Amino acid sequence: MDRHFLYQNAVQCVEAEIDFVEATFQDLKGRPARTLREDFCGTAQTACEWIGRHVDNQAWGVDLDPEVLQWGMDNNLSELHEQQRQRIELIEGDVMAAEVAAVDVVLAMNFSYFIFMQRDLMIRYFESVRASLNDDGVFFLDAFGGYEAAKELSEERECDGFTYIWEQAKFNPITAEMQCYIHFVTDEGVKMDRAFAYYWRLWTLPEITEMLLTAGFSTADVYWEGTDEANGEGDGVYSKTTEGTADAGWVCYVVAEK
Ligand SMILES: C[S@@+](CC[C@H](N)C(=O)[O-])C[C@H]1O[C@@H](n2cnc3c(N)ncnc32)[C@H](O)[C@@H]1O
Repeated sequence: MDRHFLYQNAVQCVEAEIDFVEATFQDLKGRPARTLREDFCGTAQTACEWIGRHVDNQAWGVDLDPEVLQWGMDNNLSELHEQQRQRIELIEGDVMAAEVAAVDVVLAMNFSYFIFMQRDLMIRYFESVRASLNDDGVFFLDAFGGYEAAKELSEERECDGFTYIWEQAKFNPITAEMQCYIHFVTDEGVKMDRAFAYYWRLWTLPEITEMLLTAGFSTADVYWEGTDEANGEGDGVYSKTTEGTADAGWVCYVVAEK
């Protein structure tokens, strides 16, 4: 049982994420993005996907936790060729103080920026991201919500060889702060309780877009997932819109241009 391996297999779909980032940047700027900073990078799986997409792509991953960065080095960066390895750098540090060359794209994915509880602090983080972008740079974030996001609940999903369990253990409606956990159980019955713990504020989309604009971004747009007519589920295609649907649970992208 390796919690990072299980996390990558259950939670992340870096191919789809980078497809969206590449296509949206090209669409907005009329050129391909080449440099990317992955904030809260964890195992840096997304940054590695970026490196594999083009020989001129460069990536920096920033995370506070040396243990997860080492895992990423041993299991993800180790899979890159020598030439690719030279185009990626992992930085152990706070995203607020990341000292990285100016980049085309900054990513804050899997809701990691929800750790910032106060509006002032979030705006300061957004300002620091904006300062680290090239003049035509773009900031990509994701967000989740829906009426079940504010509930205390536990959801299971079957994965290859194990079950992924997402628990919203506590939600405080006064502060919108929530305690969440990821648990895993292997098909052999081995349990890994609280493999990951997150203490987050459940920010709403208007709050996020307003804070991005306050931080100086010229745009802050929501890209909402379309619906597969056949089964009523999300179709994996995210488009810019100002009107969403009142789903029980949704995940979307927020895209902010410098
Ligand atoms: C939810 S994980 C996200 C992993 C990965 N980005 C993904 O998309 O799945 C959150 C990560 O953020 C890191 N982290 C939390 N606060 C941070 C901070 N202030 N600066 C840098 N990294 C931070 C944690 O160490 C953890 O690896």
